[in-house]
This record gives sequence, C-alpha cells and structure tokens, in this order.
Amino acid sequence: MSIATMTPEVATSLKTKLDTNTALVAVIGLGYVGLPLAASLHTGGLPILGLDVDPGKIEALGRGENYLKHLGEQMTADLAASDRFEATNDFSRLNEADVILVCLPTPLGKHHEPDLSYVVVAGEQIGRTLRAGQLIVLESTTYPGTTRGEFLEAIEREAAKAGTNLTCGVDYFVAYSPEREDPGRQSHTTSTIPKLVGGLDDASADLAMQMYGKGIENLHRVDSAEIAEAAKLLENIFRAVNIAMVNEMKLILTRMGIDVWKVIEAASTKPFGFMPFYPGPGLGGHCIPIDPFYLTWKAREFGHVTRFIELAGEINHAMPGYVVDRLAEALNEHGKPVRGSNVLVLGLAYKPDVDDTRESPSFEVIEILRDRGAVVEYSDPHVPKSLPVRKHDLGMQSVDLSPESIARFDAVVVVTDHKDFDYGLIAQHAKLVVDTRNAMAPHAEALGDRLVRA
Ligand SMILES: NC(=O)c1ccc[n+]([C@@H]2O[C@H](COP(=O)([O-])OP(=O)(O)OC[C@H]3O[C@@H](n4cnc5c(N)ncnc54)[C@H](O)[C@@H]3O)[C@@H](O)[C@H]2O)c1
Repeated sequence: MSIATMTPEVATSLKTKLDTNTALVAVIGLGYVGLPLAASLHTGGLPILGLDVDPGKIEALGRGENYLKHLGEQMTADLAASDRFEATNDFSRLNEADVILVCLPTPLGKHHEPDLSYVVVAGEQIGRTLRAGQLIVLESTTYPGTTRGEFLEAIEREAAKAGTNLTCGVDYFVAYSPEREDPGRQSHTTSTIPKLVGGLDDASADLAMQMYGKGIENLHRVDSAEIAEAAKLLENIFRAVNIAMVNEMKLILTRMGIDVWKVIEAASTKPFGFMPFYPGPGLGGHCIPIDPFYLTWKAREFGHVTRFIELAGEINHAMPGYVVDRLAEALNEHGKPVRGSNVLVLGLAYKPDVDDTRESPSFEVIEILRDRGAVVEYSDPHVPKSLPVRKHDLGMQSVDLSPESIARFDAVVVVTDHKDFDYGLIAQHAKLVVDTRNAMAPHAEALGDRLVRA
C-alpha cells in the first residue's frame, strides 16, 4: 500500500519535512558507522542530532575534533561549525527527532551468542518518547528478523508503558538499512557506497528511501527488512568463507614451496568467475569475525547447522597460532628457542592505516608468543598504546622504528601492513622477518633467508 492510501497525514508531513530539509535526524551511536553517516546526511542538507553515551565523543565533537582519525578533521570541523549539527547524551531529546537512526554495536556474548542488548535498549528509549510521524531505522548488523522482532517489540513495549497507542506502518515507520562502511578504504565514502533499504512495510520503505537519498548517492530498495538483514550477513559470510579458503590454500602451498601470493596474482588474470581474496594472520574488526555467528545462532532455531561458517571460523581462528609456529620454526633455524627471544609485532590495528584494534589478530599473536615465553613488543604508528579490547588487555606501548630498535629484536612479525612502516629500513636491520601480508615482497631479495612467509 502506498503512503497516499495509507497514512496521508503523518507520512506526508514527514515527506514534506524531508523535502524541505527540516526533518531532524537523530543518530544514536557516533562510532565508525554513525559518525560518517551523520556527516553524509548533514552534507545532504538535513539537521542532525548526534546521540552517544560516551561523553568524550560529545565533547570532542563540540570542539570539532575527530576521534576517528581516518575520517579526517575537516568532517568534524564542518559539523562543529554548523548550526544544523548538535551532539548530546540527553536521550530524552529523542522525541524532537523526526528520524532516528540506530548505529549501535552488535557484539557476541561469552558463548558466541548474539548480544542485542544495545539494540534492545535503544528500542526501549525510542519507545518511551515515541510520537506519531517518526521514522526509525536500524543500521546495526544482525540476523534476519531482528528489526521486526526484538527491536520493534522493544519500541512497542515501552511505548505501551508510556500510554502511547501508535501503530507501526500507520502512525510511525520502521526500516532496516545495513552499513557497508570500510574504514580506511579510499575508493569509496559513506555517500558513494550503495545502500540497501528494507522497510517493515511499504510506507516505511518509501520514507527511508527518501531520507537516505539526501546523503547517499545510490540506494537499492529491497522487499523487506529481512532481505536487507540477510543480505548484510551474506556479504560478511562470503568474505569470512573466502578468506578461510585462501588461508587454507596458503597452508598447503607454503608446505609445497609455492608462493600463494603469486598464485593469487596469476588466478586473478581470469576475467570472470574469480575474485581475489588474500591470506593473513587471522580475521579482525567488528564485522567479519563476529557477524557470521549471528546467523549460526539464529539457524539453530530452524534446526540448521551452519557448517561453512563454523569451518571458516575454525580455519581463520587458527591463523595466529600458525604464524607463531612459523616464527618458532624460523627462530629454530637460527638456533634460537621462542622462550626468551625478543619479538617485535608490526601493527596492532586489524587492518592497514586505521587505529581500530577490535578483534585484531595481533593480540592473539602477542598472547600466544607471551605464553610460549617470548618477550614481545609492538610498533604501530596509529596505536601509541594498547587499550583494552573484548578479550585482551595487553598494557603495552608502541615502539618507534629506528635502525637500533629494529636490530634489537630476534624477529619482526608483520601482522598489519600499514603504509607508514618503512619496509626498506626493516629489511635492512631486522635479523629475521616473518611476513603475513606479503609486505616485504619488494625486499625479498635483500632479505634472503631472513624472510619467512607465514
Ligand atoms: N565498523 C565498521 O566498519 C562496520 C561496518 C558495517 C557495519 N557495522 C555495524 O554497525 C554497528 C555499529 O558498529 P560501529 O563499528 O559503528 O561501532 P562503534 O563501537 O564504533 O560505535 C558505537 C557507538 O555507540 C556508542 N554507544 C554505545 N552504547 C550506546 C548507547 N546505549 N547509546 C548510545 N550510544 C552508545 C559508543 O560510544 C560508540 O560511539 C554494528 O552492528 C556493526 O556490526 C560496522
């Protein structure tokens, strides 16, 4: 049913507000997803109310400082200078918003079960101040059915307690639109990455499409919120499985004395039916190591075992141990045991040129090395000191790279290939380099048998 036949007053009024850039958009969660999204919609002309529980972020935004360095200072300077942007931790102001976007974490619990607590709490907050004419969109990655299930139920539960008697799809509107942010990637921005939009009903999808059209160039509407939820998981499972497959190829080819990187380069010349994925020290970040298990958990309800996901998880999870085994073999060749060896891990962030350390395999590599008695330090120009993450609290500080500092270590392990590392300097002064990213390939000849691929 279209807006015109369904709810002329509230939907048409929101439509007009969006047309005239007077619809206030609240973004809950100003992290890797929420902040650039808020900035894109702001650039598109909409007024933005940013909400976050972290007072440090609210203060930084007030000063125009960007706590997410890869996004650059200009973005936050522009927001701070604008009379159409405000950041706050006063959640009672949610009722001022015409549109509410939820960009909150969806982590895993202790037993690998989905932790929807952030999403549910946000739904409850929205429900408490719900009013007619609001559009609410969930952006967090999650299993199919969450928006119509846990999220909507939380909104309705609290709205009912507050005595608000409104119907979704008639009086207010709910949709799901997943994020495809890839922090650090230069080829795309939040505005240029095509965005999926799926409503709980047609009216919700119509309004969500109109709203995102303000700041995002390319929108793809799907038939339901569930399709959008499942598509996001498919994208991330596709990556997890293919990375595991190529990691397995690496293990086999390395034993056979064949360079996996050259094999991938060769296979990539096929103009169809092949897409390159690259091996590494294990998965990192808030998405690929975590999201697939949202489906694993949900699939159990339907009597399914997600074998591909589990196997990919098993292979990818074993990679940090494999890296350490390769290092141990290499040290052995140089007449050294792991115990007592000084090892420098290059890169604490989970991927190049960002400061995000969530789920980074570097932590696993460091912990395994420490367990085996090595004396470990790390260097990362983007992470001056290691802050606690979900499973680790290393309490370490980054070492500056210099000829002397590099030469002090028995081995250097390249875990994250930041552009800022001087690989020539490393090749010149390292006693032994274990390279998980093919970052040392240009210096392979100079390194000779001091280079080990892992
Ligand atoms: N990081 C990525 O590259 C990426 C990409 C695609 C999708 N996602 C998904 O997007 C969602 C958000 O991820 P993220 O990386 O932006 O997380 P994040 O941790 O960077 O940001 C979340 C923000 O929410 C704030 N917050 C926490 N609890 C809150 C609460 N109760 N109320 C208000 N604010 C609160 C935090 O302070 C933080 O600023 C997740 O579901 C994630 O899977 C992330």
